Amino acid sequence: MKLLFIGDIVGQPGRNAVTTLLPVLRERHGLDFVIANGENSAGGSGITPKTAGEIFSAGVDVITSGDHLWDQKEVMELLANEKRFLRPLNYPAGTPGQGSAVFPIPNPRAQTQDPILIAVMNAQGRTFMPDLENPFLAARSEVERLRQQTKVIFVDFHAEATSEKIAFARMLDGQVSAVVGTHTHVQTADEQIFPGGTAYLSDAGFTGPQESVLGREIEPVLKRFLTGMPQRFEVARNRVRLHGAVIEIDNASGKAVNIQRLSEAVV
Ligand SMILES: [Fe+2]
Ligand SMILES: [Fe+2]
Repeated sequence: MKLLFIGDIVGQPGRNAVTTLLPVLRERHGLDFVIANGENSAGGSGITPKTAGEIFSAGVDVITSGDHLWDQKEVMELLANEKRFLRPLNYPAGTPGQGSAVFPIPNPRAQTQDPILIAVMNAQGRTFMPDLENPFLAARSEVERLRQQTKVIFVDFHAEATSEKIAFARMLDGQVSAVVGTHTHVQTADEQIFPGGTAYLSDAGFTGPQESVLGREIEPVLKRFLTGMPQRFEVARNRVRLHGAVIEIDNASGKAVNIQRLSEAVV
């Protein structure tokens, strides 16, 4: 099977990019499944049922999130009712929502007897990030549980430090199909398949206006660095691109066959 992972969708420009480009990418790459990080989809901060609905309507099957999870209070509705929405796994026990889920792949192109199942998991790092439960310990036991159901497992590791991301993915090498990082909004060029068969990319980048600082207007961010005074960071507008990765996975073994980094302009 082939899946597309889309890096953090920022605001309306990001949502529009997904709506415009996903049909093209689906056709070009023969995609069976699409996962997107939506933590910045509502005006750059957080996610609401409305922005999630727009992303699902564009053809995304599962939405992951990260440290901007709580920015919009309407997220509570998604956490309570939306099975296709994931939050980082390593929040304390009792936090609403779920950190992983298993989905049947609708109409896979590869002919099989049984429906192919894919598990999607979301976890968050702790280096230069809010202090959640240990993501390494949480992920290790969750992956063991998920592997009882399917070997096709995709992980969005939402983290700042490349060392933490690489170590996390190395721990899961051979246990999951792919680990792709999010959160920095800067796409890295280190896509590879580890010896155990796990595809890896430190950061997928972000989907939104690249003429910006991580998706926000440049001037207010500069002003904040120059003066230290708080500023309103509006979502920027120009040079919108969709960032992500296409990953091909062997259904039977769950091992990755190929990973290709994507940076697609909206024209
Ligand atoms: Fe983000
Ligand atoms: Fe983030």
